[in-house]
Amino acid sequence: MTYEQAITTVQHNLQAIAYPTQATDLYEPIAYLLALKGKKVRPALTLLAWDLYQQEDMPPCSEAVNMALAWEIFHNFTLMHDDVMDKADVRRGQPTVHKKWDENTAILSGDAMLILAYQYVAKSAHAGASLQILLDLFSTTAAEICEGQQLDMSFENRLAVQEAEYLNMIRLKTAVLLGASLKSGAIVGGANAQEAELLYDFGVNLGIAFQIQDDLLDVYGDAAVFGKKIGGDILANKKTYLSVNALNTTDATLKKSYLLWLEYNADADTKISNVTTIYNRLGVKEKARQAMDHYFQKALSALKQVNVSAEKKSVLTQLAENLMHRNS
Ligand code: IPE
Ligand code: IPE
Ligand code: MG
Ligand code: MG
Ligand code: MG
Repeated sequence: MTYEQAITTVQHNLQAIAYPTQATDLYEPIAYLLALKGKKVRPALTLLAWDLYQQEDMPPCSEAVNMALAWEIFHNFTLMHDDVMDKADVRRGQPTVHKKWDENTAILSGDAMLILAYQYVAKSAHAGASLQILLDLFSTTAAEICEGQQLDMSFENRLAVQEAEYLNMIRLKTAVLLGASLKSGAIVGGANAQEAELLYDFGVNLGIAFQIQDDLLDVYGDAAVFGKKIGGDILANKKTYLSVNALNTTDATLKKSYLLWLEYNADADTKISNVTTIYNRLGVKEKARQAMDHYFQKALSALKQVNVSAEKKSVLTQLAENLMHRNS
């Protein structure tokens, strides 16, 4: 299966979801968010991991597709709530649900999405892949993401965060989802536990690199391509790879200046441009790229150990490589 085939399958099946016909106001925002142009990384990882364990070239079984949809719906649920928490007005180049509708809508439609995601998990098991294992993986991952999101929020109010704490936070809020998407695909595809775990490690390390890149794009990206407001993390005092490096710099002057900007909230553009200047002077962009590469290499070395031909794995290698150069 190629990456394009995986994406097409996901898109087609997302569009085909038939929502209940009562309380349509609950489902309209769900359909809206799912129809916006997202990368569909997680469901693609599920389908591609499933494909590693098929002998013949064939379209994915319904269980694999359902597992893939569960992750994409779950991911979009986290985004709907994340945008409320992060006060983000734009996502995928369009107004966020709480802006287009209101916060109560984003809360309740998000809840309905989480339930919808579980309904897809329930349809992803078969004789060789037990529902208990898949449900455990899904629930554990979902709980970890809540933990990561809570750490992300509480770090906003802290003036000291260590790099290790930051890495743990992004592992939870972002990376485990990529790991679990791959692992579940492998399980539905018939992989043994050891293989599934290696794919999980591949995904977690890729996910850490992915979030560091998201932090970078939040400052240095092109809003038109990235689809989110540039500088949003700076305005929210988010602890990102960049900010944690500024907080922990040995340059006392720049550190003091950065701490002052953390307390300043008057003019948004002034804050964004001054904090960006501090980042530039500290060279954190380069440090972030090095960190990304470190986790990307760790991801590749886990993938290397997966006992499938390099040719079959090349789709995943290529996808990971492409993600490291993404702009959106
Ligand atoms: C956004 O995820 C949330 C993060 C973990 C950074 P994506 O960058 O995969 O968002 P979409 O789904 O492609 O819009
Ligand atoms: C990503 O956090 C993690 C989740 C949404 C669970 P961000 O807050 O960095 O994601 P974006 O930048 O809004 O997409
Ligand atoms: Mg967030
Ligand atoms: Mg956010
Ligand atoms: Mg972000």
